[in-house]
Amino acid sequence: MHMQDPEEKIKRLREQLAAHNYRYYVLDDPEISDAEYDRLLRELIALETEHPQWITPDSPTQRVGGQAADAFEPLPHSIAMLSLDNALDESEFLEFDERTRRLLGRESVNYFCEPKLDGLAVELIYENGRFIAGSTRGDGLVGENISQNLKTIKTIPLSLFQPIPRLEVRGEVLLSRQAFEKLNRQRQADGEPLFANPRNAAAGSLRQLDPQITASRPLEIFCYGVGQVIGLDYDSHQQLLEALKKLGLRVNPLVRPCAGAAEVIRYHSEISERRNQLPYEIDGIVVKVNRLADQERLGAKTKSPRWAIAYKFPAQQETTQILDIIVQVGRTGVLTPVAVMKPVKIGGVEVSRATLHNQDEIDRKDIRVGDWVLVQRAGDVIPEVVKSIASRRSGAEKKFTLPETCPECASHTIRPEGEAARRCINLACPAQLRERIYHFSSKKAMDIDGLGEKLIEQLVEKKLVKDVSDLYFLQEKDLASLDRMAEKSAKNLLQAIDASRRRPLDRVLFGLGVRFVGEHLSRVLVNHFTSLDKLARASEEELLGIPEVGPQVARSVVDFFSTPENLGILKRLQKGGVTMQWQPRTDATLAGKSFCFTGSLEKYSREEAEALVIQRGGRAVASVSAKTDYLVAGEAAGSKLAKAQTLGVKIISEAEFEQLVK
Ligand code: IVH
Repeated sequence: MHMQDPEEKIKRLREQLAAHNYRYYVLDDPEISDAEYDRLLRELIALETEHPQWITPDSPTQRVGGQAADAFEPLPHSIAMLSLDNALDESEFLEFDERTRRLLGRESVNYFCEPKLDGLAVELIYENGRFIAGSTRGDGLVGENISQNLKTIKTIPLSLFQPIPRLEVRGEVLLSRQAFEKLNRQRQADGEPLFANPRNAAAGSLRQLDPQITASRPLEIFCYGVGQVIGLDYDSHQQLLEALKKLGLRVNPLVRPCAGAAEVIRYHSEISERRNQLPYEIDGIVVKVNRLADQERLGAKTKSPRWAIAYKFPAQQETTQILDIIVQVGRTGVLTPVAVMKPVKIGGVEVSRATLHNQDEIDRKDIRVGDWVLVQRAGDVIPEVVKSIASRRSGAEKKFTLPETCPECASHTIRPEGEAARRCINLACPAQLRERIYHFSSKKAMDIDGLGEKLIEQLVEKKLVKDVSDLYFLQEKDLASLDRMAEKSAKNLLQAIDASRRRPLDRVLFGLGVRFVGEHLSRVLVNHFTSLDKLARASEEELLGIPEVGPQVARSVVDFFSTPENLGILKRLQKGGVTMQWQPRTDATLAGKSFCFTGSLEKYSREEAEALVIQRGGRAVASVSAKTDYLVAGEAAGSKLAKAQTLGVKIISEAEFEQLVK
């Protein structure tokens, strides 16, 4: 057999590894298994150990390692890294648009919009397609040389797909929320100080003198601009980003051209709505004049260009003072400390209470009654206290500890080994019962109109309702004994209860409040099993066979249906006339159909697309098989596409998918 020249072989392996790396980290759509990748990498390491003269700095073997430095060397930028002016609301953005139109003498300007990523700006320098150095922004003129650290980031290619003479590319390095939380959990366990937010964690990780530490943090990058460029042609920002993508650099998938201010404003609100679902933090959008010739005409001021602006989202954080800490008992008995605060407006909504989660969080953040604190509200999420501002303390602040007994029923509480939550384990605890009934009768569950907090409190207090099934045995004379209950309202309530007897099964299940089973999973489970009996008999293995069900959910469902009290409640619900029918929804247009996704979609994240399928009664599957009905192929579709072709699975585009779910 012909022995391949080892130098050639090394080169080929490097190219293969770089290509797989790109598929895995940049496109998020690998073509080979991790094991296969490791095998190739080990082969390369072996060859390079044998022939060290052929190790090049852009070899994938050179990502990790490197010596720890004493300090970072300064690295001047050949073109200054400017910052951006801010527009804090629509009217400020419209002023920017008006000025831009005036300066260009146009009726309307074509913009290009991107999410404003909340990380750290860096510059990467490529010469003849090879990564030679990279730096932080620094003061905009001179940054710090953090090349060794940048090389550990898997989404930064060490060599480009084309050897263009020079490219200084700029982008934002960030850490996902998930990675940030994991890192902080680890640091807490190790007794190290915690990072306040993902941005600080990314900055801290990137400015490590020891690149080994940087390598252990899953940093990522999105590229959004350039400094000096030699050998690349483009007339617009859009073309530039396309070119960067083609070179193997990672560009954010949510970027979009917008013709005129109205489209920009729509983009702003659309991205703002998706903000909390994104895996990383953003704090606005960046609006750039698309045409390069226009950018040049507009030019720059000292610190910022005139052709771009950061159009921010409303702040999600404010400072206020904690007046008191109270304890709430939830429907599963968890004791939650809640901060009662001087009311503040956050993102247009007045906030006066925020969760402190549990005792560990209070201790970790050292939050005391009387403290000034930073409070955060993100979309529909319950507001939370981010941190206390120790410098504003007067000395009168008081530490807080959760009580050992339930504030509601005075029973002893426990904190199970390994859990953060303290719980009241008295099943008859009135607070838990109230919360369970409240949840059961809520809009998204049984939707019992008129059954409000005050009424529930009385029903529980008078022992008319001891579990949710008792609602269906209530009579007019029971209600007559309650405060402020006129004959008419009693009749109305009984009517509302009666109407709820016919709610579909998924809502009954959701209302029962099985741990970890929310609205969405209730629908998934009911669509799968079609009856409560079948679901109640399901084994953990059977549950785990459903794509969206993990071990935690499976365990919890099995636990729920093997608890005699719960089975008793189900029986009584049935006896009380609750029909618990599975209703294939009228919009279940995709019932029985399975969908698999490959590549990236323009308008939806993978999760969003899968949710659409499930909402319409279909199934989302992770891999293609002969039984798959559709493969939705997005941009840069991967190996699943070839597999679907071989198996004869119907392949559709994002646009066709959209037609199906509409
Ligand atoms: S363009 C001259 N695009 O925002 C244009 N910047 O306040 C300079 N940033 O230092 C930047 N996402 O760290 C641009 N899509 C994006 C961005 C972005 C985040 C950051 C960047 C910059 C800061 C400017």
